[in-house]
Amino acid sequence: MRRKVIAGNWKMNMLPNEAIKMIDELTPLVKDTENEVILCVPYTDLFYSLLVAQNTNIKIGAQNMHFEESGAYTGEISGPMLKSIGVEYVIIGHSERRQYFAETDETVNKKIKAAFKYGLKPIVCVGETLEQREAGKANEIVTNQIEKALEGLTDEQVKNTIVAYEPIWAIGTGKTATAEDANEMTKAIRNKIENIYGQNVAEEVIIQYGGSVKSSNAKELFSMSDIDGGLVGGASLKSDEFAKIVNFNN
Ligand code: PGA
Repeated sequence: MRRKVIAGNWKMNMLPNEAIKMIDELTPLVKDTENEVILCVPYTDLFYSLLVAQNTNIKIGAQNMHFEESGAYTGEISGPMLKSIGVEYVIIGHSERRQYFAETDETVNKKIKAAFKYGLKPIVCVGETLEQREAGKANEIVTNQIEKALEGLTDEQVKNTIVAYEPIWAIGTGKTATAEDANEMTKAIRNKIENIYGQNVAEEVIIQYGGSVKSSNAKELFSMSDIDGGLVGGASLKSDEFAKIVNFNN
């Protein structure tokens, strides 16, 4: 049985004092869960969040990183920088990064490789637009994204990659994919991984669903056969709501 992994993505929200308060409130609410709990916070919250989350079951991740180790890349943050303060996870290739910051399948692939090189675990986002879905191309687009994202990784690395299937039309819109549609796509992703890396690897990969996950729909989504938890945006900003999502199976 694969574990369930519930990750929050705060995006560009939360000042350090708000981050500290949220994690303080969240800690007792999720301490007994068997699910893995991750919060991906803005760079400026990382250090505070790591301190407050010390000795809890809440793990801390970043939302992006550069693929180079160091150098003349003004404004960027590298893998070794994240690792040096104790960050464990990093979101790679979120659709907002692809859409607003010109990230491509190629940079996503480089970043995933860099994440592993510097000891970070990537949460890799893939997903189709509404137009692509309506044109019947969702499957092809998403499986193509996953193939390119994972290109050149070892079996062990693929096993340790978390994939987040996030249909772009469902992000921040209040529209959620039906549990059946979401499960179908996560299955398609797993099949693609199986075709390339074999069943052994594919069975171990955590594949999350993301896009307007909230406490009222988490149980239905996360109980599906191939959905191993979620990447949660808006609903991860409030401790009580996020705790309900983490504790969906209680
Ligand atoms: P949302 O965002 O839950 O606010 O739709 C999800 C995401 O972008 O990761």
